Amino acid sequence: MKNYTTLADIDNLETIIREARGLKFENPDTKAGEGKTLGMLFFNPSLRTRLSTEKAAKLLGMHVMVMNADKDGWALEFEDGAVMNSDKAEHIKEAAAVLSQYCDIIAVRAFPGLKDKEKDESELVLNSFKKYASVPVVNLESATGHPLQALADAITIQEHNTAEKPKIVLSWAPHPKALPQSVANSFVEMVHRLDVDFVITNPEGYDLNPAVRKDIKVEHDQEKAFKDADFVYVKNWSSYEDYGQVLNVEKNWIVNQEKLKHTNNAKVMHCLPVRRNVVIADDVLDSENSIVIQQANNRTFAAQAVLKRLLESLD
Ligand code: CP
Repeated sequence: MKNYTTLADIDNLETIIREARGLKFENPDTKAGEGKTLGMLFFNPSLRTRLSTEKAAKLLGMHVMVMNADKDGWALEFEDGAVMNSDKAEHIKEAAAVLSQYCDIIAVRAFPGLKDKEKDESELVLNSFKKYASVPVVNLESATGHPLQALADAITIQEHNTAEKPKIVLSWAPHPKALPQSVANSFVEMVHRLDVDFVITNPEGYDLNPAVRKDIKVEHDQEKAFKDADFVYVKNWSSYEDYGQVLNVEKNWIVNQEKLKHTNNAKVMHCLPVRRNVVIADDVLDSENSIVIQQANNRTFAAQAVLKRLLESLD
């Protein structure tokens, strides 16, 4: 593995899940990263991604440097040929080259603007780091994807699955703000690689990018979609069709115990942070159905497996 910017960088999902679970249960404290440095740049806030990736790197023996790039760094210019006579003080060409001397792996979080679909889909920030850095680049959640989250989700599903071919439902849920489609996109890409029965449910107007969904069925009736589900993955995303907008939705799509009655006593997942009683009700989050804490725990082992592979590629 040369970079981890999309789930497609994983050739065999089963193998890396096995490696992550090995790091979790058998050999957490390898020294694969001794003498190596991870640099993490955050252009947006984070709790889990920041701390689980730092922990993962330290379990591998790496040094870690973290920067709130949006607040503490120079404002970066990403456009080639820009005349930098305004607010941007440093070009990505110099920034990435300098960071590549300080770090053996660079990890970046950069959310979409949600105003310009084409610009967001170009993944300008992440791809510029990939283009100008001479070391591997890791996606800590970008404009269109969150592949570290998706790997943790795959580990969590495998750990909690008891069915031969489980039914997994990805359910849109309400949120007051316009959120990226990144988590949902990577989850869909990951589930494409599992042998499961998969349904996406969301209100009209919220269908995800057809290039990501491919042949996956979208059911606009949430209760119908929940029938016999073994896993319900809850997530809000803003509209892809009416790009970046929060649309009026008549019914309340919150996930609560009343709705879980339609499922096969489903395990409920969410990447967190979650707004209680808006996205998921207390009666679910505080119940045995919720596995969100176990899911967050697996972020460490997903990151550890990815960093270990990248370190091995440095040799
Ligand atoms: N799930 C996730 O990425 O959490 P943070 O935004 O807290 O990193």
